[in-house]
Amino acid sequence: MRVVITGGAGFIGKLLAAKLLERSVLTDAAGQVREISELVLVDIVAAQNESWLDDRRVTQVVGDITDRNVLASAVTPSTGSIFHLAAVVSGQAEADFDIGMRVNVDSTRTLLELTRLLAAPPKFVFTSSVAVFGGALPAVLTDDQILTPQGSYGAQKAMCELLVSDMSRRGMIDGRSLRLPTVTVRPGKPNKAASSFASGIIREPLAGVDSVCPASPDARMWCLSPSRVVDNIIIGHEAPASALPYTRSISVPGITVSVREMVESLRRVAGETVAARVSWQLDPVVDRLVSSWPQAFTADRGKSLGMTTDASFDDIVRAHIDQ
Ligand SMILES: NC(=O)c1ccc[n+]([C@@H]2O[C@H](COP(=O)([O-])OP(=O)(O)OC[C@H]3O[C@@H](n4cnc5c(N)ncnc54)[C@H](O)[C@@H]3O)[C@@H](O)[C@H]2O)c1
Repeated sequence: MRVVITGGAGFIGKLLAAKLLERSVLTDAAGQVREISELVLVDIVAAQNESWLDDRRVTQVVGDITDRNVLASAVTPSTGSIFHLAAVVSGQAEADFDIGMRVNVDSTRTLLELTRLLAAPPKFVFTSSVAVFGGALPAVLTDDQILTPQGSYGAQKAMCELLVSDMSRRGMIDGRSLRLPTVTVRPGKPNKAASSFASGIIREPLAGVDSVCPASPDARMWCLSPSRVVDNIIIGHEAPASALPYTRSISVPGITVSVREMVESLRRVAGETVAARVSWQLDPVVDRLVSSWPQAFTADRGKSLGMTTDASFDDIVRAHIDQ
């Protein structure tokens, strides 16, 4: 069957593509284990410099998902699964409301509408975020916490979660929205996510570069390593619809770490000289967004499906160094 990843040239999209190629099979909406015969990456930029791009199953559609034709060229009748990852991230969606609405909401709706035209409803995995919650929150959130986003990115993710659940209830898709924790450590360059510093304060010092942290050291974040996130996305895909009876939204398990604890982990794992490359300069916009996000979840629904977390932030730092 054909599997489509939007945002396939992005950080998580590329890791997911590599994992799916290695795995070779997925369970379709009818519960049948199917060979992945085609893996289609849709992104505004082309994925490059990955050995698996030579795999004969991989094709790329390079274009803007706000253009319906781009999405229509990827979603063909043999499409059995769609992983919808393409998005503008939190900092950009907050800075530019219109771009956030067009990419994060309008394009998601277009993609969902295209899936309705398929003879058999596909599995549809939407990557949501803990940013759907904010404001006065309990210390630990259950899966059924009401959605109270405090930024446009979170509001856009929340709208799409409701659409995914409703269209699944109607049998138009077999959807699931996975609320990912902050994924760290992200390799490469900083991105426009408000949480980007959570990777920067580990990645840059390890590369011998100074890093300025814009959030308070006391800010606490719900985090997960890239490889665990990809494993949990696949577990979310594989879960039977019967395990998600009244909502398709799942808070993905993670660990709670303060920014200060992140730097302490860096000091333990890589030494004082490396940790000393982190300095602090509060950016009120970043600090407000990050402080509005939830810090801990029971994540019972995800755990009951088999999703797992990293053992500690030290392990997350070590995993990044090993890579
Ligand atoms: N990384 C995290 O910490 C995190 C946390 C929670 C949720 N998420 C969600 O997971 C998904 C993937 O995140 P990521 O970290 O890989 O982000 P990323 O920015 O690395 O990847 C997103 C990809 O979407 C593509 N894209 C953006 N606008 C597009 C457009 N108009 N047309 C086509 N492609 C477009 C980008 O080119 C990019 O390759 C996103 O939906 C994000 O909101 C990520």
